[in-house]
This record gives sequence, structure tokens and C-alpha cells, in this order.
Amino acid sequence: MVKKQMVTDLNLNTRINDIFLLKDVEFKVRRDKKTIDMFFKIADKAGEIEAINWDVPNDRVEKLSKIKFARVQGYVTKKKIDGTLQATVSSLTETPPLDLDYSDYLPQSKKDLDELMNIVYSNIELIKNIYLKKLLKAFFDDQEFVEKFKKAPAATKVHQPYLGGLLEHTCNLVKICETMGDIYKEINREFLITMALLHDIGKIREYTYDRVIEYTDEGKLLGHIAIGLEMIDQKIKNLNNFPPDLELMIKHTLLSHHGRFEFGSPKLPSILTAIALHYADEIEAKISGFINIKEESGNFNEKWSKWIWWLERPVYLDEEIILKDKISETEED
Ligand SMILES: [Fe+2]
Ligand SMILES: [Fe+2]
Repeated sequence: MVKKQMVTDLNLNTRINDIFLLKDVEFKVRRDKKTIDMFFKIADKAGEIEAINWDVPNDRVEKLSKIKFARVQGYVTKKKIDGTLQATVSSLTETPPLDLDYSDYLPQSKKDLDELMNIVYSNIELIKNIYLKKLLKAFFDDQEFVEKFKKAPAATKVHQPYLGGLLEHTCNLVKICETMGDIYKEINREFLITMALLHDIGKIREYTYDRVIEYTDEGKLLGHIAIGLEMIDQKIKNLNNFPPDLELMIKHTLLSHHGRFEFGSPKLPSILTAIALHYADEIEAKISGFINIKEESGNFNEKWSKWIWWLERPVYLDEEIILKDKISETEED
């Protein structure tokens, strides 16, 4: 089925009539304790907007909570103060999965993924340590792994939540780690780059990304740190005579890369590489997340973004306009 209407085609008062992905579905019971309203987002690869389906019959709730793709009919009825749109939906009809071209719904990285994979391979080639190289090759010579690594998102929200996002995040992180290695000669550069390449491999199993991007059961129950540890453990078991103390350093760096217990690391970084990797990862995720906010807010022509939960603040969006103006005023002018 050819999709004609994308989220970016929607504006205040636009009539909605196409197939969208339904996300973040929530049902709320009104104060009368009878009437149920459905709050959700309608999405495709271009973006997402909030939607409400008022007064849902009780016997439709279970069915509606399971629908992923539906023909959505209604109108965009509200433009909020932060410029974001809200739709009032009058009809939702489930679409059979075979009728869909999923590429209309999965957001994609704008980068050339083959080029990014070449960055990964050339970094592996530069590694001289035989054990680190063997471990990296155990993953990156495995076509099944590479296919997933190239396709996986880096997250479901916040930073690089699109196909190819994990590869993008990894390549950016490798570059940050290269610079760290240039500045701090005390850091073992090869080890840091190896860990940058491997730190988030568990994400290939943490998320599903064939039809929609969301957590797998394994992702929800274990998370990518535990999954990654298991993947590395398996590969090392198949490598002959892998030094146990190096294995310990690798596992520690992987386990501690989120830097805090409340962010899912069961151990805090206790070696130099681990602390470097954690902060490099934090820089990459935060800056890419910030860029993502600016791109998503681009359609609304507002000065301030909506409230960003993970930053606990809205973001000022006119930075570039001001800086571009001022930077063109050079001393000679
Ligand atoms: Fe991570
Ligand atoms: Fe990461």
C-alpha cells in the first residue's frame, strides 16, 4: 500500500487519512469513572505527533492497545504553545501487516552506512594487539552480526533512534576516543578504540528494528550491557588462550560504561579506559540527542523546543540563526 500522507504533511486543520504507526498508547479513565480516552502518537519515518481518540468503548480497549499499524482518520485540531501538533482521531482501523512497506515507518540514518562500516573496518585494521584484533574480528567478520550492527538503532528515543543509529553512534564515539588518546598518552588507545567499537553491541538484541523500533523482551529483561557481556563471553570462549586478565579489563569496561548504577551499570568505572569510555559515550549520546531535538523541532518555527524530559528543560532553537549572523560580522566589517 502506497503511503501518501506523511507526518510532516500535517498541519493545523489538516484532514488525516492514511496508515500510521501507533506509539506510546495509553488509556485514561475520566473522573466519571466510565469514559475512557486513548492518548497516543501517530508516527512514520518522518516524525510523530500526539493524538487523542476520545470516548473509546470499553470493549475496544484491549484490541486497540495491541494495534501497531492503523488507518487513522481525523483532523489536526490543536497547535500547542511549543508549536507541536495534536490530532483528534475519529477512526482507527487495523492494517494487515502484509499490506505495508515498513520502510515508510522506520526512520533511517542520513549517513552512508557503508562508509561508516569502512571506518569500523579501518579502525580494526589499525589494532596491533593480537588478542584485541582477534576479538574484534570474531564479531566484525561475522556477516550475520554485521548485518544487525549496521541496521540497529542506538536507542528508541533520545539519541540516534533510527536505523543505522548504533553504527553512527559507534563511529562518532571512536572519533572522540581517538582524540582522547591523542591528548592523554596514558590511555591505551588500542584498548579504548576496541571498547568503543564493542561497548553497545548488545543493542543488536536489545531492540527490534524490522517493523517498528522498540525493546525486545530480552532488552527489557536484561538490557544491552548484560547482553553485550554475554556476547563477548561467548566469543572469548571460542578464542584460544585469551588472557584472563585482559578479559577482565574488557568485561569491566563494558559493564561500567554507563558510569552510574541508576543508568544500568552494575559496576562503576575503576580503570582509566573505563572512565574515558564512559565520558566519551556520554558526550556522544548527549550531543547527538541535542541535535535530534533541534531536527525534530525544525518544522515548528518556534524559538523554544517542547519540554525535553531527559534534559529537564526546553531547548533554545535560534542559536544557529544568531551565531550565523554574528559570525559573518568580521573585524574588517
Ligand atoms: Fe550503552
Ligand atoms: Fe553508547
